[in-house]
Amino acid sequence: MTTPTIELKPSAHPLSDAEREAILASPGFGRHFTDHMVTIKWTEGRGWHDGQLVPYAPLSLDPANMTLHYAQTIFEGLKAYRQPDGSVATFRPEANAERFQNSARRLAMPELPVETFIEACEVLVRQDRAWVPSQGEASLYLRPFMIATEVGLGVRPANEYLFILIASPAGAYFSGGVKPVSVWLSEEYVRAAPGGTGAAKTGGNYAASLVAQAQAIEQGCDQVVWLDAIERRWIEEMGGMNLYFVYGSRIVTPELSGSLLPGITRDSLLTIAADLGYEVAEGRISVEDWKAANEDGSLTEVFACGTAAVITPVGSVKSTRANWTVADGEPGAVTMRLRAALLDIQTGQAPDKHGWMHPL
Ligand code: PLP
Ligand code: COI
Repeated sequence: MTTPTIELKPSAHPLSDAEREAILASPGFGRHFTDHMVTIKWTEGRGWHDGQLVPYAPLSLDPANMTLHYAQTIFEGLKAYRQPDGSVATFRPEANAERFQNSARRLAMPELPVETFIEACEVLVRQDRAWVPSQGEASLYLRPFMIATEVGLGVRPANEYLFILIASPAGAYFSGGVKPVSVWLSEEYVRAAPGGTGAAKTGGNYAASLVAQAQAIEQGCDQVVWLDAIERRWIEEMGGMNLYFVYGSRIVTPELSGSLLPGITRDSLLTIAADLGYEVAEGRISVEDWKAANEDGSLTEVFACGTAAVITPVGSVKSTRANWTVADGEPGAVTMRLRAALLDIQTGQAPDKHGWMHPL
């Protein structure tokens, strides 16, 4: 595979320091974007070419662009964190690059070389370094994605694609901060079925989730929890987060069933929790197990984890069959300890024992 170099064409009119500082004071999530973006083209027979860093700007697409009709599109999400010495580092970018390749394979799209994915992150963050927040757990969220750019209505893999990397300063994903979320168990709708695209990070999975998320809100809950497609019994994950169940000092996360997203935060926590002395396992957890272990007191905490949301406690559960409060409904000690341990590595407050941080 060819590895294109990225040509720099910086903006002549970046936002002023005052405008940028006003945004960074309260960034929210995914509402503001930095001054630049990286674009790289792929064409059948030629491979990856024309890598560029250019001013952030709208795209012009033909109405018959194939992505708009058949959703051949994939994305990633990773964060760059300000380090104590003022430098900037991202967390496990090669893991995101590899998942991006896996998603590409599932969607019959070309694979971007891992080193090009990482180079794109380096080039953009170096250029827009002033956009990396320095307060608390705020970060610069990087959103790499790929779309088909061929024009035509035939249903087949496109012969032209565009990779784009944009960046957005991020505060808390949930506006309430670290407040337990309430969840709705989705029995009517499923996110992904065996053999489907659930393990890929592709737009269609998120489009398919929206009606169930709306149902969760109607039910007075914050988030939807997906169950397996066949028995509607086994816990899979949340809309944009994986789940962990804490039984005292034993911590269990649903195993990778093929229909849930293999989260990088999930994977990192398997290691961090073991480092902290917890017994860690991947397994199958049913709705009945969840309810029974909650009732007999053996289940002490449940939390969700993901790049955008970090670690968020789950406080209560609602379904058509039963409602219950998870333990005492408050953020648990293990949840908060793992959250601090993960953020300490990401923000450079704790040693990076596993070589996860990539300086930019
Ligand atoms: N599950 C889904 C459906 C997601 O969209 C995400 C977010 O990326 C996750 C889980 C968590 O994955 P990660 O920890 O890699 O962000
Ligand atoms: C992430 O955590 O990076 C996600 O992609 C979750 C959501 C914003 C889709």
